[in-house]
Amino acid sequence: MAMQLDKVVPFGRSLDEYRRLFALSDGDLQKNVISIADGPASFNAELTAQGGSVVSVDPLYIFSAADIAERFYAVVDLIIDQVKATPDDWTWHYHRSPDHLKENRCAALRSFVGDFDKGKTEGRYVIGELPHLEFGDGLFDLALCSHFLFLYSDHLTYEFHLASIREMLRVANEIRIFPLLTLGLEVSPHVAQVVSDLASQGFNARVEMVPYEVQRGGHQMLRVERGS
Ligand SMILES: C[S@@+](CC[C@H](N)C(=O)[O-])C[C@H]1O[C@@H](n2cnc3c(N)ncnc32)[C@H](O)[C@@H]1O
Repeated sequence: MAMQLDKVVPFGRSLDEYRRLFALSDGDLQKNVISIADGPASFNAELTAQGGSVVSVDPLYIFSAADIAERFYAVVDLIIDQVKATPDDWTWHYHRSPDHLKENRCAALRSFVGDFDKGKTEGRYVIGELPHLEFGDGLFDLALCSHFLFLYSDHLTYEFHLASIREMLRVANEIRIFPLLTLGLEVSPHVAQVVSDLASQGFNARVEMVPYEVQRGGHQMLRVERGS
């Protein structure tokens, strides 16, 4: 079904946040990366500016940068008010406060908007959606997925998760997914089953701690590598 922009909260994170939440090393940032459900993150804009190779995939990219920005500014204060109303759900080590969180999300949005048209022309922003990716087998070294899989476990089935992860593993040698929490701050009920099913299919799947926590308790990612 076509995405409706008025149902979306187009919040995006920065390269620095991606570095932490996926435990990306300098070497990882030199890899050929695909970043799925990237939304208006500034990861692509910033990594490209420093010479990296990254393709972002999201159904949101059917809209113009101006429309995405308009939607962002229509909802940002509502979301920040919700954060302020649930102080125990968040930690303030990375963003110092809800207002600092807003500043960082606005900065990421500006960077994304400034890069989007050029990046779309260059094939760095691609309209697409899990569980199917329009890319050949093994085209990428690393596939990332931030704040989509596991987070929306109340709406997305186990079958959707497993099919999406297998598809990410088809196009990349290694994948990383963050966070493992749902919006309700519980570890997604799909995580243990995914790890077990992937292990039985010959993949090396493990949960790892990362140096990033904004959602309280959200400091783990799933890393999966193809078996040798
Ligand atoms: C919360 S945002 C995360 C943005 C970015 N990854 C970040 O962490 O800053 C979730 C994104 O998932 C995208 N999305 C929704 N359905 C999707 C699907 N089936 N496949 C890929 N992305 C999807 C949305 O358009 C949205 O941009």
